[in-house]
Amino acid sequence: MLTLFSPAKINLFLRIVNRRPDGFHNLGSLFQAIDLGDRITFQSHHEDVFTCTDDSLPVDGKNLILKALHLFRRKTGTFIPVKIHLEKCIPIEAGLGGGSSNAATTLWAMNQLTDKIVSAEQLGEWGVEIGSDIPFFLSLGTAFCTGRGENVQNLPPLTATSVCIVKPKGGLSTPQVFKKLSLPVSYLSKNYDDLTAFFAGSIGHFNDLEKPAFEINPDLYILKQRLLSDGFHTVLLSGSGSSFFCLGQGQIPTDPNLSVYSAKFINRNLNDWYEIPKNI
Ligand code: C5P
Repeated sequence: MLTLFSPAKINLFLRIVNRRPDGFHNLGSLFQAIDLGDRITFQSHHEDVFTCTDDSLPVDGKNLILKALHLFRRKTGTFIPVKIHLEKCIPIEAGLGGGSSNAATTLWAMNQLTDKIVSAEQLGEWGVEIGSDIPFFLSLGTAFCTGRGENVQNLPPLTATSVCIVKPKGGLSTPQVFKKLSLPVSYLSKNYDDLTAFFAGSIGHFNDLEKPAFEINPDLYILKQRLLSDGFHTVLLSGSGSSFFCLGQGQIPTDPNLSVYSAKFINRNLNDWYEIPKNI
């Protein structure tokens, strides 16, 4: 049996470059894996079985775990029936990449169970067919991603940083947030070199998806201001929301309408998957 950690991610910055004719958006984003995550077990079995601790998630072919399993079989021509169990901790519709992470973890697991027949890069190239964030989750944990998310540049781990993740009750649908951007196909943001500027300290954390997310749910803007006034120096929507990551020594919210998680940045070694954190 293989038990793997399936981490969440945050976007330390996220620029939307343009809208593509296929409806997706090119972006430039610095992704970071964190130790908030799910646990997934994989076991050879006489037939496929998939179970999950969160009954709001589909357990049929709509679940990204099963999509990843079928993708792996299709691409490799292998077929090992498996029993998969997902212990869900990453909040859904939160911009934390939970579904993509589960799919990436499944691709990694199936590759292990079939004696590592392909590279992580190859798994990422296949994965983007079912989710834009999947190639990131096959990186080493800190990566600059461009295109739809399929071009992954691994970066050295950042100095250990703690983040507070704050998730309000309602989620946000990623397609809806991108749609709200309503960029013409001809739109092109200026040619910023965000990565260099970010590490030179000349720009801070930003997310071009905050504006459309706040238009869809103005309460999110109010929550951001509240968290800033509680002492965090940075409060930024992760991906398409609805969760925020907060940096600095702020007061941890105790509001029962908010789910709050303390997390750390994590990375993995080239040939290993992410370690299971001791606290889960
Ligand atoms: O690939 P993923 O399932 O995360 O995308 C969900 C939706 O978000 C897409 O169907 C698309 O509407 C939007 N999206 C986008 N550009 C991206 C990623 C997602 O427009 N780079």
